[in-house]
Amino acid sequence: MLLEHKAVVVTGAGRGLGEAFAIHAAQAGAAVVANDIDADLAERTAAIIREHGGRAVASSDSVTDPGQANAIIDLCVAEFGGIDGLVNNAGLNYEAYPWEESPEQVKEIVDVNLLGVIYTGMAAARAMVEGGRGGSIVNISSGASLGQRKLGTYAATKGAVASLTYSWALDMEEVGIRVNAVCPLAHTRMVWKSERSLRNCPPDRTPSRVAPLVMYLLGPGSQGITGQLIRCTGPQLHIVGHPYLKAPILERQVWDTNDVQRAFDEVFSAHLEPYGLEKRVPPRLRKWTEGAA
Ligand SMILES: NC(=O)c1ccc[n+]([C@@H]2O[C@H](COP(=O)([O-])OP(=O)(O)OC[C@H]3O[C@@H](n4cnc5c(N)ncnc54)[C@H](O)[C@@H]3O)[C@@H](O)[C@H]2O)c1
Repeated sequence: MLLEHKAVVVTGAGRGLGEAFAIHAAQAGAAVVANDIDADLAERTAAIIREHGGRAVASSDSVTDPGQANAIIDLCVAEFGGIDGLVNNAGLNYEAYPWEESPEQVKEIVDVNLLGVIYTGMAAARAMVEGGRGGSIVNISSGASLGQRKLGTYAATKGAVASLTYSWALDMEEVGIRVNAVCPLAHTRMVWKSERSLRNCPPDRTPSRVAPLVMYLLGPGSQGITGQLIRCTGPQLHIVGHPYLKAPILERQVWDTNDVQRAFDEVFSAHLEPYGLEKRVPPRLRKWTEGAA
């Protein structure tokens, strides 16, 4: 029993990936807070766990409200005597070109996908520090954080979650809390909404195929693993590399525009990065890569 005597909170646990994470955690022996803004679905997940002999309570608080995010964590401490793990999973998405998006949509997705992760993570970290037994936070990011068409705002929230993970892993090591992020791919409601996602994600890519990675990161076997972004698409499991300061790093007392132009013309042209998850070659380099066509 990988998570025996552990108490774990899973946000967005009413359906999809969160439901699978909650049920797998309970099967691994954890007491679980199954949170979802949809109260019926949160209760359904908690009931499934209890029917199978596990320990679970439902929470219908929204991660977007700092007070409610505190309440999700407080419920875990009150019911189960502490908190050992948090899966920051609640999330939303939509597809739109930037010129089609509305500020209301943008705000809502940032509220859930980024502020929700920060508020719930802050509350969990505070409780874990007070509990004095360390812990493990697993943030759910996305391969979209590398850049995807029509997913700019969603990608930005997930990229921010990756940055948060690296930073929090630095901050929390000394208090014994590990912070990692997972980029999943699974056939859920989020995928059903998008023709492109459906093409990349057949029905056999079930949420249960991603859950073992999250259980590993919550459990004792992953001691010493922190600050990592790990992608599981069902069949594939890999680490996602971090952004880094790329050599050559040119030096001048002051950079004027002419020098910047020369740096690009003479040096950086050869070092430009392909961009997006699709690894699109920058226009300036295409004469080299598409020359034969
Ligand atoms: N499905 C994929 O292939 C995929 C790929 C990359 C990342 N993700 C991420 O995985 C996570 C789970 O996605 P999913 O595919 O299971 O989606 P889903 O839509 O099936 O489930 C998300 C759940 O989060 C809940 N939720 C939304 N707002 C909330 C709030 N304010 N407070 C609490 N709960 C809230 C929803 O009610 C829903 O039950 C998300 O963060 C998503 O961005 C999914």
